[in-house]
Amino acid sequence: MVVSQIIDAWNSSVVEVENNVTGKSKDFFKKANSQIVKKLLEAEEKILQDESKVVLIRSSEEDDSMDCVSEDFDFPEVVFHEDVEEIAKSNEDGKEYGKHYDMVNKKMAPARGHHGAMHCVRVALWTQVLSKVYQKLGREKIDNPILLATAGAFHDVAREDEGIDYWDNESSEALEKLLKHDEVDDVTTSRYVQTIREKDPKDGQFSTDMQRIVHDADCLDIIRVVGKWNFSKKFLCFVDFDDKQKTFCDQLVNEIADFISITEDIKVRNHLEHNSNDFYGDLVRLLFELKIEGKSRFPLITGLVRDDMREVLEVENAESFKTLLSILKL
Ligand SMILES: [Fe+2]
Repeated sequence: MVVSQIIDAWNSSVVEVENNVTGKSKDFFKKANSQIVKKLLEAEEKILQDESKVVLIRSSEEDDSMDCVSEDFDFPEVVFHEDVEEIAKSNEDGKEYGKHYDMVNKKMAPARGHHGAMHCVRVALWTQVLSKVYQKLGREKIDNPILLATAGAFHDVAREDEGIDYWDNESSEALEKLLKHDEVDDVTTSRYVQTIREKDPKDGQFSTDMQRIVHDADCLDIIRVVGKWNFSKKFLCFVDFDDKQKTFCDQLVNEIADFISITEDIKVRNHLEHNSNDFYGDLVRLLFELKIEGKSRFPLITGLVRDDMREVLEVENAESFKTLLSILKL
């Protein structure tokens, strides 16, 4: 199993959820649409055009200005622009949301707001990076980092809403189905399924490093919502493993925050979600492509996973990757 197949499986699961627009799912789409497609009329960034109307999506910079509640790991209520709130209220019949489905179908908008494909792919990537970090910090080697990345990719798959995650069990069941389908043995399956079923243990007591890694990977990616400056490192398990490695941990978190801010760009997300045949591969290639004065922009991350990513990096640059670079003006 390669990670891009994991992402394909994830995307199929999302489609399945989206096709089931009843009950809770219907509520999800009402909210999701409000959160994803925001502002009709004026804004700084004109991304999507729908005949006579310009439809705009909130820029990630606006996320940074939201109230920070990272300490609870809650996602903040989305702050509506006044006019958007009115639009949302006036479309109780779902007409506006229908428009969003059309936009997703036309590949003009990502299917989800904060918990979409980009979050899933980055969390998978962070689990791979953290598997190496944990080892560097003296912890035992993770026996199958790819399965752990799979767990990372699936940790939000069954979500039907943003905000508090009530769907850890359902997401873990989806992972269980995938691993059984791929004939992973029962003992191994249950170990990896547990990492997402109990990703955020209520008593704060983790039972395995795999569980800690998935937790830390998800926790790091909250930077996409609160921004680098509002993010608190104290909830990351690995920062307390070795006092002598505080500088390394700080630099690592800075690199991760930098990569999140680049890839959270709505045009990047939309392009990869809809046009890439290898979302994970394109993201990894981007990680290695970005340079500052001829040197890697992410020296710690790339140094940690270079050997693991050799196969991905050898792939001839696909059309979608070239488009990605042009979106980023590289
Ligand atoms: Fe998540």
